Amino acid sequence: MAAYITPVVNSTAVFKDGLFDGKVLFCTGGGSGICKAMTEAVMRHGAHAAIVGRKLDRLTTAAQELSTATGKLCLAVQADIRRPAEIQAAVAKTIEKFGRIDLVICGAAGNFLAPISKLSENGFRTVIEIDTIGTYNTIKATLPYVRASKGSYIHVSATLHYRGTPYQVHVSAAKAAVDATSAVLAVEEGPHGVRSNVIAPGPIAGTEGMDRLGVREGNGAPSSLLSTMPAGREGDVKDIANAAVFLFSDAASFITGQVIVVDGGNEHLLKFGLPYPQAVLDPDSVTKMIRPRL
Ligand code: COA
Repeated sequence: MAAYITPVVNSTAVFKDGLFDGKVLFCTGGGSGICKAMTEAVMRHGAHAAIVGRKLDRLTTAAQELSTATGKLCLAVQADIRRPAEIQAAVAKTIEKFGRIDLVICGAAGNFLAPISKLSENGFRTVIEIDTIGTYNTIKATLPYVRASKGSYIHVSATLHYRGTPYQVHVSAAKAAVDATSAVLAVEEGPHGVRSNVIAPGPIAGTEGMDRLGVREGNGAPSSLLSTMPAGREGDVKDIANAAVFLFSDAASFITGQVIVVDGGNEHLLKFGLPYPQAVLDPDSVTKMIRPRL
């Protein structure tokens, strides 16, 4: 089979240094995974950051790692985004430390696999409260500062709700609402100089999300996603980070209210009877599997 690899690229190899000098990022869910990677990339381009989450020990470790890796300041702030007073206090601490907030990532989320028939009312409500109401609470608490700096929001969504994804009704409903919230924020706050966009990641290897939601082989190892990825490799947290750097940069100053899917083309690949990607890389190898020409 032909080589089938596209590289993972660091934002620093594409975007210039100092892009976010003097700016401050406020990121919920920044203690791990995709949100930590986005925070690192934005810090590598010059911003200081506050990362917010429920687990202080994880946040503190992450903040130290982020500061060491980037040379910028990172504040760890414990808050449950479901509670408005806690997120308001986290914003107050960020302002006390840095004096401003320019960039916001609404990234904290909760998920697990459960069919409607087995999902309790509280399970459904919990994910709506974290993803949707947590996003609203974060917007409400940060907006005065983001307006003042004419800053920008990125909300982390998903592609699950574009179709009916089994076992994902709670997150599908929550993320559809996040997409809608971002669009309204873009329209209402655009005239104030604020932008709002959504990044919708596909499956990203090595994240807590994939650990919780990914299918496993018989030996417990995560199943390969390669056969669902037109881009030719599994997604990496750096792919999402690169999109965040672009969307926060001035190069995206005319992009607002949009949902940017970062999934290696995954959402466009319908179930396909032939082996993929083998069938497109080496069509001769599958001719026996197709009805011959008459
Ligand atoms: N299947 C079905 N229901 C589940 C569940 C599962 N795997 N996990 C939790 N629930 C239900 C609980 O049973 C409970 O409902 P009940 O009171 O009717 O029994 C409800 O969800 C709340 O669970 P609880 O553990 O009390 O909530 P929490 O606030 O401590 O945790 C979660 C929130 C459930 C979203 C948890 O998964 C979490 O903290 N996730 C954060 C990280 C994460 O999910 N990252 C992945 C991002 S893709």
